[in-house]
Amino acid sequence: MNINIREERPEDYASIFDLIEKAFRNEEYSDHQEQFLVERLRKSGAFVPGLSLVAEVENNLVGHILLTEIEIKTPEGGIKSLALAPVAVLPEFQGKGIGGKLIEAAHESARDLGYQSVILLGHEKYYPRFGYRLADEFGISLPFDVPKENCMAIELQPDALKKVQGEVVYPKEFFE
Ligand SMILES: CC(C)(COP(=O)(O)OP(=O)(O)OC[C@H]1O[C@@H](n2cnc3c(N)ncnc32)[C@H](O)[C@@H]1OP(=O)(O)O)[C@@H](O)C(=O)NCCC(=O)NCCS
Repeated sequence: MNINIREERPEDYASIFDLIEKAFRNEEYSDHQEQFLVERLRKSGAFVPGLSLVAEVENNLVGHILLTEIEIKTPEGGIKSLALAPVAVLPEFQGKGIGGKLIEAAHESARDLGYQSVILLGHEKYYPRFGYRLADEFGISLPFDVPKENCMAIELQPDALKKVQGEVVYPKEFFE
């Protein structure tokens, strides 16, 4: 199976909306509103062109990932970071490595743009294989009432979070 990862284009928006809805439809820990979150973030100041990627198989969109800008509030001031939210693969294409490819490609693009780290809320068994560690280990907290095991972070550059401790500030679009 040939999987092509590329930046999203305006003509993909409707298919992306649809695939996110389908991917999360049967997810227990979901509000089933992730497709709306992506639409809001795309119009927000947190959106970074180049960090909304799609996965194509035979010219059909089967996956999507979005990284948007956030800030870690530290005693020394705000430190720029990225939130990974959401990543979605159509149910019939899950378990084939597409999610992994999207995550690795998003990291690479973010690194190319000079970003230092990514933070996410997600399944504790999935993300460590890509290098994520508990945000708590870095001294970083997320403003959500969720178990610490689900709050994770990755350094895109060595020791990027070594001296970064504080709470993540998300754009308002995450709370609408
Ligand atoms: C999470 C998701 C993007 C992974 O994409 P994928 O293409 O299926 O992932 P990959 O093929 O790269 O990896 C498959 C592995 O991920 C695991 N996995 C997939 N979804 C998982 C989940 N929600 N929780 C825990 N593990 C999960 C699979 O068990 C499999 O593990 P294995 O390799 O040990 O067998 C996809 O399953 C999906 O769209 N799920 C619904 C939406 C969602 O929950 N998104 C994440 C929250 S933002």
